[in-house]
Amino acid sequence: MGKKPFIVGNWKMNLTLMEGMEFAKSLRNVVCDESEIICGICPPIVFLKDICRVLEGCGIFVAAQNIHSEKTGAYTGEISASMVKEVGCTHVLLGHSERRHIFHETDSFINAKIKAALSVNLKPIFCVGETLDNREDERTEYVIRNQLKEGLHGISAGHIKELVIAYEPVWAIGTGKTALPEQANEVHSFIRSTITDGYGKDIANSVYILYGGSVKPENAKELMAQPEIDGLLVGGASIKFESFLKIIETAAKY
Ligand code: PGA
Repeated sequence: MGKKPFIVGNWKMNLTLMEGMEFAKSLRNVVCDESEIICGICPPIVFLKDICRVLEGCGIFVAAQNIHSEKTGAYTGEISASMVKEVGCTHVLLGHSERRHIFHETDSFINAKIKAALSVNLKPIFCVGETLDNREDERTEYVIRNQLKEGLHGISAGHIKELVIAYEPVWAIGTGKTALPEQANEVHSFIRSTITDGYGKDIANSVYILYGGSVKPENAKELMAQPEIDGLLVGGASIKFESFLKIIETAAKY
């Protein structure tokens, strides 16, 4: 049996608390009993507790956009895995290209964060992806293999099953440029074969691999139609309820 489509909205640093709450209530009304889809949102950290309350008991999950790798300590401004877990999050985005490129997060730091999340049963949504330069230099596979190798270093097969991987070509994020569905499918297939090499076919097939990068209601169908694309990580189009809903409705058919 195929997997249920997996749709995540990453609000990034957008919306007010009031707008976020309204969004979550509307989402709850339409998606709550949806058994055909796995759906979640990633609000800004300070909204997490309130949004988790709104979505409590319904199938929609809430993810943090980031955590620190340490459990506690003198890390002013940072939040630990257990803190976001405590307010009700079940997932966390890690390795997002904005974290890698704007905040200079390294593969080894991301690896430590993935381990921190897994240690408290918080499911990482682990993002990988090449830059435009990487793609033009035909280094896409090399870069992604490395991000997977370093990011997943020391993580057991049992834990890999808890993980969601998101392929987000950096050149397609927030640029309006989407990878061609076939182009994305090719990289997804490469990611799955890399996971197969490390952890075997069964685990690789069970891992969700999402596509992210300028996903919109208009291109959700052709992306979801690709055999290796299990779901979508949506940025800009996830902060408007109507467009996020259209993406969810489209994905629910796959
Ligand atoms: P975008 O962002 O949909 O606005 O391109 C995707 C992401 O960063 O996850």
